Amino acid sequence: MFEIIIYFFATVVLAIWLMLPAYISNSMAVVFGGGTPMDLGMKLPDGKRVLGEGKTMRGLAGGTACGIAIGLLQIYVALTFGIQYVPTITAIITLSFGALLGDIVKSFFKRRIGLVRGAELPLIDQLDFVAGAWILTYIFDPVWFTEHFISSPWIILTVIVLTPILHRLTNIFGYNIKLKKEPW
Ligand code: CTP
Ligand code: MG
Repeated sequence: MFEIIIYFFATVVLAIWLMLPAYISNSMAVVFGGGTPMDLGMKLPDGKRVLGEGKTMRGLAGGTACGIAIGLLQIYVALTFGIQYVPTITAIITLSFGALLGDIVKSFFKRRIGLVRGAELPLIDQLDFVAGAWILTYIFDPVWFTEHFISSPWIILTVIVLTPILHRLTNIFGYNIKLKKEPW
């Protein structure tokens, strides 16, 4: 029993460690967000915004930069302390940028189905960035992605279950400190 608990916590810690650049970039986009929207206010023929006011240049740049910065720190820590799970430079870039790309693609489709900026789309709002981070990392660093994710289904499952919980908790926190307009 004790061993199962240890194994469970080790899996959770490893899942967070592997996803950290994506988690940081996604949450820091909220902190840095504001200013010029990425779609520059443009609308499509359906009369709706391309992406909406919630996707900004500053959010994308600030979020990606913070994700990469955390990734570089992880590489340093892993090499210094001999941790075997070292992210690659490619992976920290694709995890950080891919996370926000996934979020942007989601907003594009949210607008197309007529959801206003900030409207809740359960589960998709919480896993869009995981999908973006994984797809981009799989494309650009398939070796690293296969080794750390595809060959460990437990990690994949843990990320899918854990992310909506973490997302919810950080968003409630962000809402309470008035950083976010909605608690989701
Ligand atoms: N944000 C940003 N740029 C991004 C992503 C997020 O500026 N690329 C900021 C925005 O201030 C946004 C907030 O983070 O309002 C929360 O992000 P998110 O929940 O993804 O956006 P929503 O405002 O809910 O918009 P949408 O309905 O398009 O998801
Ligand atoms: Mg939202």
